[in-house]
Amino acid sequence: MSTAQFTQEDAKKAAAVAALSELPEAGVIGLGTGSTIRPFVDEIGKLVAQGRKLVGVPTSEATRKQAIALGIPLLSDDGPWDILVCFDGADEVDAEKNLIKGGGAAHTREKIVNYAAKKNVIVVDESKLSRRLGEKWPVPIEVLAFAHLATARLLEAHGVPTMRRKDGVPVKTDSGNYVYDLKVGEIADPAALERVLGAVPGVVEVGLFVGRADVVVIAGATGVRRL
Ligand code: A5P
Repeated sequence: MSTAQFTQEDAKKAAAVAALSELPEAGVIGLGTGSTIRPFVDEIGKLVAQGRKLVGVPTSEATRKQAIALGIPLLSDDGPWDILVCFDGADEVDAEKNLIKGGGAAHTREKIVNYAAKKNVIVVDESKLSRRLGEKWPVPIEVLAFAHLATARLLEAHGVPTMRRKDGVPVKTDSGNYVYDLKVGEIADPAALERVLGAVPGVVEVGLFVGRADVVVIAGATGVRRL
């Protein structure tokens, strides 16, 4: 395929196929959420159908639905789990492999599964790379519906919060909470920001993942590389 014809969809598919090399022979794997991980989960479905003994922990209802349709066995949501490797996407990745996640409103479950995994593999196309987190994306924050306007007011001390809406209707996460996208600009210290935002009452989880990626698989028009 010539590079001129290479689309972002092609990059996502190439990254997904490359990430298969990080799969354990058998055992429990975390299944992330989003359009990059979707083709990866399709590949897992094929391997399971061929008899590979893989069991998943899904990070969203969308991924659960996809995995069930493909016949991938899943563990209960209750945990705890012994996850060998978790595979997930990201919205923004810096050179230290820190991440912004939550563009699909799934970052709380994603973070719980990420922390339960021995190894985390992040799969992206190269449009997700940035010099500094915050350069391209606001920070998604899952917020309790109760007093969300009060929580948003507290978030104003750290940036410009906007309630996420789709077709004019507030987006709700799989856990029934709201999402605020906090525009902060370039983030000098992601760990400090994660701590300070996580301490705001009403915040359920912050879409900053600091030091939580072991491998980043990046696909672009010129091929696949790893961070
Ligand atoms: C879900 O809330 C997110 O964290 C996704 O993992 C992230 O938004 C990447 O999604 P895409 O692969 O669709 O860009």
